[in-house]
Amino acid sequence: MEIVEVSDYDAMSVEAANLVMRHVVQNPSLVLGLATGATPIGTYKYIVDHYKKNRISFKNVHTVNLDEYIGLETTHQNSYATYMKENLFNHLDIPIEQTHIPNGKTSNLIEECERYEELIQSLGGIDLQLLGIGLNGHIGFNEPGVSFDSKTNVIKLAQSTQSANSQYFKDDTKVPTHAITMGISTIMTSKRIVLLVSGKEKADILYKIIYGELNKNVPASILKKHPNVRIIADLEALSVLKEKRSVNS
Ligand code: F6R
Repeated sequence: MEIVEVSDYDAMSVEAANLVMRHVVQNPSLVLGLATGATPIGTYKYIVDHYKKNRISFKNVHTVNLDEYIGLETTHQNSYATYMKENLFNHLDIPIEQTHIPNGKTSNLIEECERYEELIQSLGGIDLQLLGIGLNGHIGFNEPGVSFDSKTNVIKLAQSTQSANSQYFKDDTKVPTHAITMGISTIMTSKRIVLLVSGKEKADILYKIIYGELNKNVPASILKKHPNVRIIADLEALSVLKEKRSVNS
C-alpha cells in the first residue's frame, strides 16, 4: 500500500480529485467506483471545479457506488442517490443512466444484489474505486466480521455506524438499520483503490489497517492484499502511525 501524506482535509480532497481527473483524461470510459459520507465531499467539490474549469468530459464515464440504505426512496434527502446527485452528478455532463447505485427500495433484495454484481461485471469491472473508512474499519458497509469473500449483499449496520449516521437524519426518519453494499471481494476486484482518510478520530483505525494483522474484524485490513492501493491521508489521520514510528525508532 502506498501512503500519500497530505497536510489536511482540503489537501486530501485536492489530491484525490486530481487523481480522479487524471484517470478520466487517460481513460474517458473509466468505470469509477464512488463512496459517500463526509470524507469524499471535498473531493467531489474539487472534481466539479476541475470539470468546470477544464471541460474534461464525463459523458463516457460510468460510476458505481458502494452502497445504499435499505428503505429510503431514491428521492429521500438522506439517500445516497440524493447525496451523489447533489455533490457530483448534477454538476457534470455524465448521463444519469451511467451512474449506478444499489436500489434500496426494491421488493427483492436478493435479486438486486445479484443484478448489481452482474452490472459491475458487464461494465468490465471497476477501474478506480474511491473508499472512505468507518471508525470500526468498515469499507463500503462491510461491517466487522463480514467474510472477505462476500459479494454485493444486504448488511445490518453496526450500532456504532447507525449512531455515526444519525447526525444526518434531522427529520423524523429513523436511521436505517440495513444497507446494500458491494462485498469485500467485489471491492477487491477493482483494478486500483484509493482510500481517503482524514481526521484524528480515524488515526487508530488507519494504524491498525496498515500495521495490524489481516483480520475480518477489521474489514479494511484486506486492502493489504490488493496490489494497487493508494492511501491519501492527512496529518491528523497519520498521527498515531507517526507516534508509534517515532517511539520504535
Ligand atoms: C459510504 C461508505 C462508508 C464510509 C465510511 C466513512 O459510501 O462506503 O464506508 O466511507 O462510513 O464515512 P465518513 O466519511 O462519513 O467518515
